[in-house]
Order: sequence, then structure tokens, then C-alpha cells
Amino acid sequence: MSPTIVIDDIGLLVTNDPTIGDGPLGLLHKASVVIENDKVISVGAAGQVADDRISADGACVLPGFVDSHTHLVFAGDRSEEFTARMAGHDYDGGGIRVTTDATRNTSTAELDRLVRLRLAEAHRAGTTTIEIKSGYGLNVDDEVRSLEVAGRHTDETTFLGAHLVPAEYLGRADDYIDLVCGAMLDAAAPHARWVDAFCDTGAFDVDQSRAVLDAGRAAGLVGRLHGNQLGHGPGVQLAVECGCASVDHCTYLSDADIEALAGSKTVATFLPAADFSTRQPYADARRVIDAGATVALASNCNPGSSYTTSISFCIAIAVRDMGMTIDEAVQAVTVGGAAALRRDDVGRLTPGSAGHAVILDAPSHHHLAYRPGVPLIRTTIGPLATSGRNAT
Ligand code: NIG
Repeated sequence: MSPTIVIDDIGLLVTNDPTIGDGPLGLLHKASVVIENDKVISVGAAGQVADDRISADGACVLPGFVDSHTHLVFAGDRSEEFTARMAGHDYDGGGIRVTTDATRNTSTAELDRLVRLRLAEAHRAGTTTIEIKSGYGLNVDDEVRSLEVAGRHTDETTFLGAHLVPAEYLGRADDYIDLVCGAMLDAAAPHARWVDAFCDTGAFDVDQSRAVLDAGRAAGLVGRLHGNQLGHGPGVQLAVECGCASVDHCTYLSDADIEALAGSKTVATFLPAADFSTRQPYADARRVIDAGATVALASNCNPGSSYTTSISFCIAIAVRDMGMTIDEAVQAVTVGGAAALRRDDVGRLTPGSAGHAVILDAPSHHHLAYRPGVPLIRTTIGPLATSGRNAT
């Protein structure tokens, strides 16, 4: 028997299990949660006994956040690009090549150190499950290296060789896609669970993106897609057609896109911090939810369009500007993120689920939107920085 630990004296507990608490969030008052071996073994009234005890002192506890979209493996700094944007320049994704140069010229040990720092920051901000993409290597060796670094920290690794055409292939996008679907995929597939492509204006078109998703699927990877970030386009329809787990950004959606999402198992993942940092409009999450689609919110932490690990920030924007209720936003960063990763073991606090939790410095989850910019995560319980298959 392993030692057990109880999170006790919880004022308000979000379980995300409607069978054990009130409403869709499965809310319980005056509760406690017992964890053994990283798993919840019991949820009940305050006062359950275990080998160790953490007191929430009457505060709110919720499942650790599931951040289903990040690009944490990178080197370099693009603060000047951000500054120029704030002075009126547009975002077009071209800065991906700047980060690719910096990443290629950085040692693996240094990339690993940078990822660890970013993971520690995300963990302090309440994230306990994270997806990490490659996409700043854009050649065989550097894509594999990026996935190896990511895989030391998470099982949710995504091959994003089709992030942008690298400088040495400019004007030869189809040749680059042949490389991505051939030698690069062969080398990357053993290190990835997911395959992704950036299907948007200035990145890859629908046929190139479909080729990547098809080749990835043939190599045993499951698809996810960047789509509809910079304008209306075919990304959402392609993701649904290819059975992707998620289509991410969804900033510009037509009625047909929303209908397609609602009739599919593809999760619409919104990345509002990217819209904030690129001065794009915010997605109309209300319409997507009302249509019946499953939604998630993620940080999209990357050096160009969204350099934040703060899920609380995403919640605040989603509630203020995307038409989501606070309860919906909290679901989107927990069970929504889990659905985008096709996981049912995280994003909830119920017997059998992962014992990953966040203790807030607040009496309810509503404070995550009500007190924007305030670091309300008192304690994060969960193994974010050590959960990868090659963790040391
Ligand atoms: O999801 N859109 C593509 N990829 C990232 C941005 C990457 C960058 O600008 O470096 C995104 O926003």
C-alpha cells in the first residue's frame, strides 16, 4: 500500500463529475479528496483521514488544468515582433522562421533547460497535463530533437513539421511537404502521439495539410490541426473530415464550420491569448457551444503569437469577450482540454481519475475570471514536470 494524502477542508470542490455533485461541474461544499499513487481514491465530506493531509483552509479546489496546445520547445526571443505589433504591424506567422533559426542553433541541453523552466511556470499556474508540439526545427534532425525533448516531459507530443515552409524551401512548399510526409515523419513518428499542420493563409493549403494528416495517420499518429486563425478557411472542415481530435484557434468560423463541428467528435479548441497578442478578434465561443460542439481552451504558449502559460488569463478572456460563462470556461480548461487529448483520466476529480488538483487562493472558481491578472493558484498538486516517458 502506498501512502495516502487527503486534501481536506475544501470550501468548494469542482469535481466535473455530475454524478457526485451539483450541476455539470459536480460541485461539492465542505469536501475532501483522498489520493493514492497519483489517483483519486475517494471524494467525500470534509474530514476524511489519510496518511498525510493538506488543508485547503476553506478555499476552492478544482482539477489541475489540461493545456492541450503548446509549443514549448523553442529558443530565442521575439519581444520586438510583439512590440511592433502593438504599434500596428500585423501577425502573419512569418516569425516562426526566426524561432526556427534560434532553435536549430541551440544545444539540446539548453532546449531541455528552457522547457523545464516553462513547465515549472505552467505548473505554478495550475497546469498538470500538457501537450507539447515540435515545429521550430523544420528539418529531420531538429524536429526529432524537439520531440525527444518534449517527450522527456509529457506523453502528449505532437509532430508539427508542417508549421511553416522553412527558409531553405521557400517557393518549394510541395517539396517540403514531401519531406514532412516522408523522411521527417518516419523519423518523428516514434516520438509523437499526434500529427498537426498549420492550415491557414501563408502557411499550408488544404491539400498539403490533408497530405500531412493522411501520412501521419498511416504512421499511427492521430490528427489535430491549426485552422481558421488568420481568416476564414478550410481548416475546420478538413479537421472534421479527417477525424482530428481537435481543431485549434477557430477564430474565424462560418455557420457551416460550426455545423460541422457540432456534428462531429472534433473538439473546437480556442486560443484566446493568441488573439490577444496578435490583436485578432476573439472567437465566438457562445455560438459554438450553443450549437452543441465540444470546446476547449488552451494557452498556445509560444514565442510569437502567445507567450503565456496562464490558463487563468485564458479563462478571463473567454468569459469577458467570448461569451462563455465562468463554469463553461472552467470546464473548457479541464474536461474540455482532456477531450481534445482524447483523455478521460484527467480534468476531473472523481474516484479513479488522476489526483491532479489546484488549490485556489479564493472561495470559488468564479474568482478566476472575477480577479483577472491576480495569481490565484496557491498550490498545484500533480506531476507535470515528470510525467514524460523518458523522465529522469
Ligand atoms: O499556434 N499558428 C501557428 N503556430 C503558432 C504561432 C507560432 C509562432 O508565431 O511562432 C500558433 O499561434
